[in-house]
Amino acid sequence: MTSPAPTGIVVLVSGSGTNLQALLDAAADPAYGVRILAVGADRTGIAGLERAQAAGVPTFVCRVQDHSTRGEWDADLAEQIGGHGPAFVVSAGFMKLLGSQVLSRFTVLNTHPALLPAFPGAHAVRDALEAGVATTGCTVHVVDAGVDTGPVLAQVAVDVRPGDTEDTLHERIKAVEHPLLVEIVGRAAREGITVTQGKATIP
Ligand code: GAR
Repeated sequence: MTSPAPTGIVVLVSGSGTNLQALLDAAADPAYGVRILAVGADRTGIAGLERAQAAGVPTFVCRVQDHSTRGEWDADLAEQIGGHGPAFVVSAGFMKLLGSQVLSRFTVLNTHPALLPAFPGAHAVRDALEAGVATTGCTVHVVDAGVDTGPVLAQVAVDVRPGDTEDTLHERIKAVEHPLLVEIVGRAAREGITVTQGKATIP
């Protein structure tokens, strides 16, 4: 029996790209049902782009500073994503807020290193440590116009250990974040994802 055609996605990155690597590794198996059509970044010189190139996946870079307004950047990013025709987009360590052009055209899944709604923003691991919580974790959610406020699809908890630094805690979060992202992206690709009235469901 032949497998159904894989679902095409675009992945956005800004850094080391370990979550992207987990998706690239999973997508190597046809049964996973995902084809990474392209990887986009908001900056050059990052390992995330090298990981995509090593896997033979097309890349594009769309930098805010190459546009005269944030709105023009948003429109250009939407065009570049749209050129690859993805079914949905995955923000995997993409450290820019997406604008209305991207969000009105695409469903975007994001992975975040905290148990949202706790610790939104760009320094979630540091903020959790500074708050002195005993448990934090990671969240996969659908992006909306707010900062990490969109509907949650799945979460995994991670204990904070005495002596944890931002690096040690983030590494333990990533160890559970990678399989969670792979699971949810795979399910969204194979079963579909619906977003209505602020609620996201994968059947
Ligand atoms: C991940 O832990 C991701 O959750 C986080 O950046 C890291 C990227 O790692 N994203 C955010 O903090 C977004 N607010 P990676 O580049 O190795 O995948």
